[in-house]
Amino acid sequence: MTVTTQFDYTPYAADYASRPDYVSEVITATLAVAGVAPGDLVCDVGAGSAHLTIPLLENGLRVDAVEPTQAMREVGEGRTQGMAGVQWFEGFGEATGRPGDTYPLVTFGSSFDRTDRPAALRETARILKPGGWFACCWNHRDLEEPFQARIEDLIKQHIPGYDYGTRRADQTPAIEASGLFETPVVISGRMTRQVSSDVWCDAWSSHSTLGQQAGEKFDDVLAGIRGLVGAERRDHVDVPYVTKMWVARLRGRNAR
Ligand SMILES: C[S@@+](CC[C@H](N)C(=O)[O-])C[C@H]1O[C@@H](n2cnc3c(N)ncnc32)[C@H](O)[C@@H]1O
Repeated sequence: MTVTTQFDYTPYAADYASRPDYVSEVITATLAVAGVAPGDLVCDVGAGSAHLTIPLLENGLRVDAVEPTQAMREVGEGRTQGMAGVQWFEGFGEATGRPGDTYPLVTFGSSFDRTDRPAALRETARILKPGGWFACCWNHRDLEEPFQARIEDLIKQHIPGYDYGTRRADQTPAIEASGLFETPVVISGRMTRQVSSDVWCDAWSSHSTLGQQAGEKFDDVLAGIRGLVGAERRDHVDVPYVTKMWVARLRGRNAR
């Protein structure tokens, strides 16, 4: 199977490490639902900057981290250097290159929307052990909080029709449509992250959904965001966000 990334993360790799972590309770709840225990080997797909790989390792799991983009893989390898139990591989959600019937859990941290989802679900089913679990998650900024709403207004002034696409969509229909998984459990947790104003402005440079849709207006949007943040005259921004995770169990083999 020939697979290419629909979108190249290389230009965003350097800034990706400063993206927010996932809410840790959402990850521990996911591991409890999936019934994985320290020492188990899981596969983290689209592992990139290792924002999901690292908490999986910190929970005592061993992780095969699969990532198609060399620049992102280098960020992840750098951030997990010296951590026990991790191995990095080149591969795609649709074609991981990992052996079949291997993992009790396959995870996608902000990467499932970057795949051909039906193909990625088929590949996940292939590499999962019988009764294993698929999980995908994203961090969603609370766009209704007043300051974040102003940022959204600014973005939409520059990019009419700006759309977060499938990354903010309910993943349940796509998971159920595959016929491969049971109805997912949805787990979410809220957090407010206090971020230095400079770091937060810099982090927008790695916002691939925005960069992709802004095209040549990207620098103007980034400058506009800097302007709004600067006008607040605060050294930090309180960023409210929710980590949302879909966790679905593989159906019995005879249901495929
Ligand atoms: C938003 S980043 C997420 C990185 C990391 N997992 C995290 O949680 O922050 C999305 C990642 O998906 C990767 N990606 C793009 N296309 C992919 C595909 N077809 N299969 C798997 N990963 C893909 C990108 O290279 C990038 O590293």
